Amino acid sequence: MTTPTGVSKARQAVAVKVRGMHAGYGPTTVVRNLDLTVAAGEVVALLGPNGAGKTTTLLTIAGLLPAQSGEVTVLGRAVNAKRPWAAARNGVALVPEERALFFDLTVRENLLLAIRGDRQKAIDSAISYLPALEPLLGRRAGQLSGGEQQMLALARAMASNPKVLLVDEMSLGLAPVIVQRLLPILRTVADDLGLAVVIVEQHIQMALSVADRAVVLSHGDVVLTGSAKELATRRELLESQYLGEAAL
Ligand SMILES: Nc1ncnc2c1ncn2[C@@H]1O[C@H](COP(=O)(O)OP(=O)(O)OP(=O)(O)O)[C@@H](O)[C@H]1O
Ligand SMILES: [Mg+2]
Repeated sequence: MTTPTGVSKARQAVAVKVRGMHAGYGPTTVVRNLDLTVAAGEVVALLGPNGAGKTTTLLTIAGLLPAQSGEVTVLGRAVNAKRPWAAARNGVALVPEERALFFDLTVRENLLLAIRGDRQKAIDSAISYLPALEPLLGRRAGQLSGGEQQMLALARAMASNPKVLLVDEMSLGLAPVIVQRLLPILRTVADDLGLAVVIVEQHIQMALSVADRAVVLSHGDVVLTGSAKELATRRELLESQYLGEAAL
């Protein structure tokens, strides 16, 4: 999708800047030499087979895992994993793979945990993008369907009023028809609010239909980048990255 015309300069400001980043666990490096720039209002799809390093990349940008080397800045500030709360305060929200909801709390209580400042305004704003949650506000999160839980995880991230939204496999365990409803919401919040959005997604074509650009990782290396439009038409090239992996 192209950037809408008339977008203000502020919206094109760099929100996430990663240069020469190495990341991993202990002495093991699982993402090598990553360069990634995401502008305000832009949606970038981070694609690649299982184990490629997608979650590791999101955790490192969110300040939950220290980069082994290289530069990671969000809204002009260096991300420091020794102060993970600072990244959240700086406007980064991560919707993790496992959703991390409090099942014994209601939908409203889960949302309130994410909010600093005007509570009702933040809830109203989050719910305006996910209206299906409104009648469920008083229900315990553990009694929601998978799709509703994912909506709540997204609403909670939105309620923190982020500038950067990192979404890890929103579609995990969900029917494609639900994914088709949820993914466009990420496009909308990028367009409406100027959020910089990074999505990790196994539904490649659906991800490309809402993203501006895509970066494909394999074994921790960037193997392909391009506009979403261009990559959507070069399906065989994209698929070969995944199939090459499966053949190993
Ligand atoms: N906590 C950890 N400690 C050690 N190694 C890890 C840890 N988490 C992930 N890894 C390894 O790092 C590599 C990259 O994992 P990562 O979770 O980033 O992949 P991914 O692209 O998100 O995969 P998936 O699509 O399966 O979620 C894998 O080889 C994985 O086994
Ligand atoms: Mg992952």
